[in-house]
Amino acid sequence: MEVIKNRSQIFNKLSGKKNIGFVPTMGALHKGHVSLFKNAKKQSKITVASIFINPKQFSKKQDYNKYPRRQVKDLSLLKKLKIDYVFLPHFNEVYGFKANNKIYLDKFSSKLCGKFRPGHFKGVVDVVNRLIEIIKPHKIFLGEKDFQQLVLIKQHLKSIKSKTKVISCNTIRDKFNLSFSSRNFYLSKKDLDKARNITNLIIKFKKRLKINRAKFSDIETLKKEIIKKGVKKVDYLEILNLNTLKTPKKTVEKFNIFSAYYINNVRLIDNV
Ligand code: PAF
Repeated sequence: MEVIKNRSQIFNKLSGKKNIGFVPTMGALHKGHVSLFKNAKKQSKITVASIFINPKQFSKKQDYNKYPRRQVKDLSLLKKLKIDYVFLPHFNEVYGFKANNKIYLDKFSSKLCGKFRPGHFKGVVDVVNRLIEIIKPHKIFLGEKDFQQLVLIKQHLKSIKSKTKVISCNTIRDKFNLSFSSRNFYLSKKDLDKARNITNLIIKFKKRLKINRAKFSDIETLKKEIIKKGVKKVDYLEILNLNTLKTPKKTVEKFNIFSAYYINNVRLIDNV
C-alpha cells in the first residue's frame, strides 16, 4: 500500500491504469467502509481510498473540529485490506486548483438533510468532483446509508457526462440493526442502545406499512414515540419513493423511511 499526499503524484501514478476503483472517505473507518473497500477490491484492478475531512461540507467549524480523527488506525486497517493507494491530501492539494467541471446540484439537495445543513451537499459534490478529477477512477463506491449524497453525486456525474460509474453499496448494520457510522464513535453504550431501539421502531413501522397494518400518516405517531425514547431533536422523519424521490401514495411502491435525529449532540441519519 502506498500513501500519497500530493495530487500530481497520485495523478501520475494512476494515469493510464485500467479499472481503478475509488472509495472516498473522511476517515474514522468502520465496518460500513470495510464493505465498500471489499466491493471495490472485488470489482476493480486497482483500489484507491482517500481520507480527507472536507471542511466545506460542515456548516459549523465546531463540527469540523470535533470530527473523529483516527489516522493511525485507519491506515493500518487499509493496509490489512490490501488497498493499493491511499490519497491523504492537505486542503491545498484538493482546493488549490480550478476544477474543470461545474458543480451540478439537483433540487433534491434542498430536501431531507439539505433543509438542515445549508451548503453541505454543495461541499460534498465539490470535493467528490475534485477527487475524481485527480484520481480519474473508473468506478466510485458509495454507501446507501448516505442515500441523498449518493443520489446527488450520481446526478452530478450524469450531468457532466463523467465516465466514472457509481457503484452503490448496501448499508451495513450491527446485529441490533444500527447502521455503522463514524458518528457512532461519539455515542456511549447507553446512547448506542437508544439509537438501536429507535432504528428498530422505524424498521417495525415499515414492516407494518408493507402489510397494510399502518398508514403513511401514522409516521406522526412514530415521531412522538421516537421523541419519548429521549431523542433531543428530530430533524426529519420522511417516507420517500426511492425512484421518484417523492412521498409515496401506495405501500406497494419501493420506499424507505429517512430519518435524522439527535442523541445528545450527535446527529444520526439513516434510511430503512
Ligand atoms: O460520505 C463521506 O464520508 C463524505 O461525504 C465523502 C463522500 C467522503 C465526501 O467528503
